[in-house]
Amino acid sequence: MDTPKRYTVTSALPYANGPLHIGHLAGAYLNADIYVRYLRLKGEDVVFVSGSDEHGAAITLRAKKEGSTPQEIIDKYHFQIKDSFEKMGVSFDIYHRTSSELHHQTAQDFFLKCLENGAFEVQESEQYYDEEYNQFLADRYITGVCPKCNYDKAYGDQCESCGSSLSPTDLGNPISTLSGKSPKLKATKHWYLPLDQYEDWLKEWIVEGKKGVWKTNVYGQCKSWIDGGLHSRAMTRDLDWGVKVPLEGAEGKVLYVWLDAPIGYISATKQWAADNNKDWELYWKNDETKLVHFIGKDNIVFHCITFPSLLKANGEFVLPEDVPANEFMNLQGDKISTSRNWAVWAHEYLDEFPDKVDELRYTLMANMPETKDAEFTWEDYQARVNNELVATLGNLENRVVVLINKYWDGILPNIELSELTDEDNELIQNITTAKENIGIAIEQFKFREALNALMDLARKGNKYLGDNEPWKLIKTDEATAKRILYVSAQVVASFATLAQPFIPFTAEKIRVKMNLSDRVWQNNSNWIDGGSQIEKGSLLFQKIEDQMVIDQVAKLEATKEVTKETTQKYMPMKPEITFDDFSKLDIRTGQIIAAEKIPKADKLLNLTVDLGFENRTIVSGIAEHFTVEEVVGKKVSVIINLAPRKLRGVESQGMILMAENEEGQLGFVSNDAIEAGMVIR
Ligand code: 2FM
Ligand code: ZN
Repeated sequence: MDTPKRYTVTSALPYANGPLHIGHLAGAYLNADIYVRYLRLKGEDVVFVSGSDEHGAAITLRAKKEGSTPQEIIDKYHFQIKDSFEKMGVSFDIYHRTSSELHHQTAQDFFLKCLENGAFEVQESEQYYDEEYNQFLADRYITGVCPKCNYDKAYGDQCESCGSSLSPTDLGNPISTLSGKSPKLKATKHWYLPLDQYEDWLKEWIVEGKKGVWKTNVYGQCKSWIDGGLHSRAMTRDLDWGVKVPLEGAEGKVLYVWLDAPIGYISATKQWAADNNKDWELYWKNDETKLVHFIGKDNIVFHCITFPSLLKANGEFVLPEDVPANEFMNLQGDKISTSRNWAVWAHEYLDEFPDKVDELRYTLMANMPETKDAEFTWEDYQARVNNELVATLGNLENRVVVLINKYWDGILPNIELSELTDEDNELIQNITTAKENIGIAIEQFKFREALNALMDLARKGNKYLGDNEPWKLIKTDEATAKRILYVSAQVVASFATLAQPFIPFTAEKIRVKMNLSDRVWQNNSNWIDGGSQIEKGSLLFQKIEDQMVIDQVAKLEATKEVTKETTQKYMPMKPEITFDDFSKLDIRTGQIIAAEKIPKADKLLNLTVDLGFENRTIVSGIAEHFTVEEVVGKKVSVIINLAPRKLRGVESQGMILMAENEEGQLGFVSNDAIEAGMVIR
């Protein structure tokens, strides 16, 4: 596309199933915000949309975990997340919700249009069904062994260890997260998108058309998927939470969340247009619109393969020009994890440090995982704030403001431009160069490079001021001191504009202190006029003390302990049983009196257990945990009425109860006070 007439910029819709954390911010929001703020400064026509993704198993699972309803969950997190974005300065034009009526209507219309165009194939297939819960299992409700990397807790739609996109039937040893049992396959009918039919087109559009255009991490993932061959994917699910499939005979079925969610970008734009008297179709159906999706790397397949194929099937929409996906942000040496509570939560940071938003934005931007995974540490946060924001930018601004107030009552000296020396002109020229470099880098989605160009200018300004020492000259050569301050003030004033996409709260403080008018990217070699009033105001940044780092790291470390306890506490519960069920078990106390290894069976021990009234042979799978010597003499609890089973040729006449923790460590269920032959009930 030559020069787009308008931009539609989207950031992934976060699931409203938990709070926002720094990994989200660095992945798909702060980068988008830089891009959009820059475009707005340039006067471009741009709409920036996002919202909460409120359907799918991510929500229903969370509701189950919190003992709540999906509606309560989405209400709680939608508003919390929206508030965090606002306070972080992420400048959406609208932050919408997929539970809204407008979204449901939009998604259903989109589905029906695709159907009308013959885009779907109805297929009957076998899907996993939990017989205890009498329901089909959403992909996320099934875990099992990833066929690509062998990770044993992969989800039915995706492996969080290697990132592969999966189908539930790809998993080895599948387990239902509802009942904890292995689910059965059962026939059901669904609407499929035959992605194989889009292969040729995707090859042309992405493999040939986006080479060297899209970021290599994005292009590489797409190419390997396309080269690996694409398969039909079901666009509907058997679930009761989501956008209903608007067809007869589809009761109890909803649209697949990955069909529904990206349509959320469209419904958000519609709502924004309705609120602002705009024509939404211009932003989605006009060839001169540049559509850009900001996402994390786990969303690439859905935004580059599935959604574009659906957009094409629908026929009325533009395709994304670019999908500048980021990699992941790690935290203090570990992966960010919501379930393990290993995260810096946006709402907590904002509560604790409401006046340090730009400090966090800056650190996350400086470490943005643009091409590979990156890491946030509190030590780095402190170093960046203290050495870069305080010692460079803050120091430059503060010295300029203080000196002008001290010597000229806050009025910026007037200078004849002909008085400027080569050194002065070089610095002023550097502002223009920085502006150009920042613009180029942002347009190429190289946000770290853009930030670097900005800070390079601050360093140059700071050095110029330090080298020329106007505070000394003032006594001997006031004219030169005035000139130095005039030039230095140009650099500071330029930050009201150039820093605005990155650290908008600071840029605004500078604008207010220097009494500058509204900023535009296009203007100027002259960033502030001589004669302008400059207010003293407060410091832009404060030093981060060691104690803050110590406290924040300790807070994180403490979550490790809590997580250990809660994950054990919350092992999935089995379905309820009656007292009769329980009383069928005959559990007795006993003592192991002899033990031996069973040849060629690494895990098994052949035990002789004294039950008081008789001795029994019991084969137990504990040989990897205990030696023969360790178990002889142990008091144990035994189920004595379990039907005998032959294991490696030895008949086992009961089962020894063991306790097992998260790490798979075993312990005997016993206590020194018991003696062989007691009844447990
Ligand atoms: O991965 C996620 O958090 C999804 N909720 C992202 C959806 S992006 C888009 F499709 F809406
Ligand atoms: Zn895997």
